[in-house]
Amino acid sequence: MVKCAVGDDVYEDDPNVEVMQDALAEFFGKEAALYLPSGTQSNLCSIMTNCRVKGSSAILGDKSHIYNYERGGMAAIGSIFPQVISNQQDGTFSLEALKKMMPPPTEHIAQPSVICLENSHGGCNGATVGLDFVKEVKKVAKKQKLRMHLDGARLLNALVEQEIEPHEYVKPFDTVSICLSKGLGCPVGSVLLGKEKDIYYARNIRKMLGGGMRQAGMTAVCALVAFDDWNVVLKEDNAKAKQLAHLLESENDFVACEAASVKTNMLTFQLLPSITKKKGSLDHQTLSRLLKEQHNILTLPSFFNDYVRVVTHRDVTVEDVETTHKAILEVIKANI
Ligand SMILES: Cc1ncc(COP(=O)(O)O)c(C=O)c1O
Repeated sequence: MVKCAVGDDVYEDDPNVEVMQDALAEFFGKEAALYLPSGTQSNLCSIMTNCRVKGSSAILGDKSHIYNYERGGMAAIGSIFPQVISNQQDGTFSLEALKKMMPPPTEHIAQPSVICLENSHGGCNGATVGLDFVKEVKKVAKKQKLRMHLDGARLLNALVEQEIEPHEYVKPFDTVSICLSKGLGCPVGSVLLGKEKDIYYARNIRKMLGGGMRQAGMTAVCALVAFDDWNVVLKEDNAKAKQLAHLLESENDFVACEAASVKTNMLTFQLLPSITKKKGSLDHQTLSRLLKEQHNILTLPSFFNDYVRVVTHRDVTVEDVETTHKAILEVIKANI
């Protein structure tokens, strides 16, 4: 990072951004790539690229990140109507329900332009979404002349488990967003992948949203390091999440955790009702806060239910997993 040459990426003049974008486009078998500051902006740029008519709709899962956690940007900024389909536990949805939600071509109803999928699925405990399902969705999309977008914030964590080549998995999608700043361990940024003409359009939207960056090569180069050993590192990260889930699963006097449901680098657990029901006792938000304050361990208490989410990454060691397990128990025992 210190030695890297930089330029102005708004003018496509940062050599390392160019190298990184070309390398990732090639890696995923897409024509072009675009470096953006965040996954949220990358998803928004891609949905606005896929839905060019104001008031058209995007079909997406009710547990998807785009629908729940991106501040309604597609509606607020993009003038795009979210058409929501119920996600199943495994991150998929019913194909029958998808077919049924296709509207007749009438001016009374918002017409869909894109179907969005997510893999791994953060709202479904990091579930991996199979390629067979993607191909079935693609058949519907093709018939209805719809585009396909993949929120692949943690795609590679999923694909090391699914044992599918990245370029094979992303083939059915017109646009794909990959976060560099999550499991891949880069300091900042996401990349959006797709056809040359779509990425050119997305680049214009990025500029409009204030996402054009100067001297961005300094962070973009980190992706080249991350993609050197991604398949080894991410496999280990997934194993660390499983290890913590197994440790917590055995603590069945305090927490509920289902290790078998952990598919990637994400796990959730709940405090048992015998703990939360006691007057003045611990809830999931307080547990998360105390873990941060007393042990510097960052976890996410759910906004929608009483789960705590833990995510592993390349800087979390096997020893850290054991420390986290102990810290969780320590905080619980001190507060019951
Ligand atoms: C599945 C998914 N998509 C998109 C994002 C958004 O990424 P960012 O936080 O970089 O905006 C996240 C962030 O956690 C995510 O989990």
